[in-house]
Amino acid sequence: MPKVTYTSHLGMVDILPDESPKWRALEHIIHDEAARFNFEEIRTPIMEQTELIKRGVGQLTDIVTKEIFAFTKGENNYVLRPELTAPVVRSYVQHHLDQRGGSQKLYYIGPMFRAERPQKGRQRQFHQFGVEIIGSDSPVADVECIAFMMRIYQRIGIKNFNLKLNSVGDPESCDTYKDVLREYLLPNLSKLSKLSQKRFRKNPMRILDSKEPEDQEYIKNAPVISDHLNEESKNHFKQVCYMLDSLEIKYTLDPLLVRGLDYYTRTAFELTSPDLGSQDALAGGGRYDLLVEEIGGNPTPAVGFAAGIERLFIACEELNITLAEPKSVDVFIVSLGEAARKWALGTLPVFREKGFSATMDYLGRSMRAQMKDANRENARFALIVGDNELEEDKFNLRDMENSSETLLSLKEILSVISGS
Ligand code: HAM
Repeated sequence: MPKVTYTSHLGMVDILPDESPKWRALEHIIHDEAARFNFEEIRTPIMEQTELIKRGVGQLTDIVTKEIFAFTKGENNYVLRPELTAPVVRSYVQHHLDQRGGSQKLYYIGPMFRAERPQKGRQRQFHQFGVEIIGSDSPVADVECIAFMMRIYQRIGIKNFNLKLNSVGDPESCDTYKDVLREYLLPNLSKLSKLSQKRFRKNPMRILDSKEPEDQEYIKNAPVISDHLNEESKNHFKQVCYMLDSLEIKYTLDPLLVRGLDYYTRTAFELTSPDLGSQDALAGGGRYDLLVEEIGGNPTPAVGFAAGIERLFIACEELNITLAEPKSVDVFIVSLGEAARKWALGTLPVFREKGFSATMDYLGRSMRAQMKDANRENARFALIVGDNELEEDKFNLRDMENSSETLLSLKEILSVISGS
């Protein structure tokens, strides 16, 4: 019978043992910085109700129209989460997190799913880290979000990027602007792409985000939102800019930045990197003051961002930044013969309890093969044990860096390893 083999789904990749140290290193940085900013971690299920994502992210967004992985089981509709803002808000409302008092400063790390056409920097299962600050209207919250995002890249050593900033206005400004935009686009409506024509009624601002060639001429000369913000939105945005200036966080104003999700109000931002190629967005976010109410909660302002982890790693590769040390083990016990193997198994815990990593051969192989393994594992020391060593209660400790060997008791070995 022919052998059957299986592969992972298109755009869904395995994180193999050689790669996992960099994931852990990044996760450590995120947890550490989150603690410094006093963010609390939230973990929500991988699957949500389809209706939540449709309502939260927006019926006409690419995510909802083309990219969700959805299925039905019994009476229930499930969707693999394409992002975490709507689920986090769902959880906030469901568990009355407002009752904990103050604004909720939440962060997360985890997999998201979007049925996009895979290419470099674009996967169907990808990972984000992000924060959501729910319950504050203050521009300070917007700026803390952005500061946290920038801090992660700064700590990693990624410096070459562009923070694009815009205000998409509050609902009042947004409505005024949408009318102005419709009026401007109407005479040429039939010349716009099919998708933009579809968006014209419900959400003309998304037309500004269109990549279709036939739309570009009209986008280029379109009226900009900044000319149509009401006093309140203008003032909020001014303060965000002022505070970013005072923190020396550099940004460029981009009046065409509207983002691909429907929930944004007022501040919107995106971080792009020239080191990324066509999928150049490292992270994005903004305010979503209406979403909590949309999902069934009380009117509650909120702001957040999410960053793509795979894209961060691509930028690291381009910049030759290594996040994790090559793997290594403190002690590799090379054991020859049955009695030595038994001794080795019983001695591993002695090292581990003292905080050292220790391993041994499981295959009963030759000394040469075991030494090769010790090298491959990047062992600091090889402890060599055979019948003679057991009899004398002294073992050869080989320092793998300089190849020196010394005959020592287990007690002496422990002190050498601790001291070096
Ligand atoms: P988003 O812009 O859709 O925003 O995604 C944020 C980041 O996730 C992107 O900038 C990109 O780095 C990464 N990303 C998105 N799609 C993919 C993909 N298919 N493959 C690899 N990476 C990808 C959101 O998701 C919002 N929830 C952000 C937010 C939080 N807004 C407010 N709070």
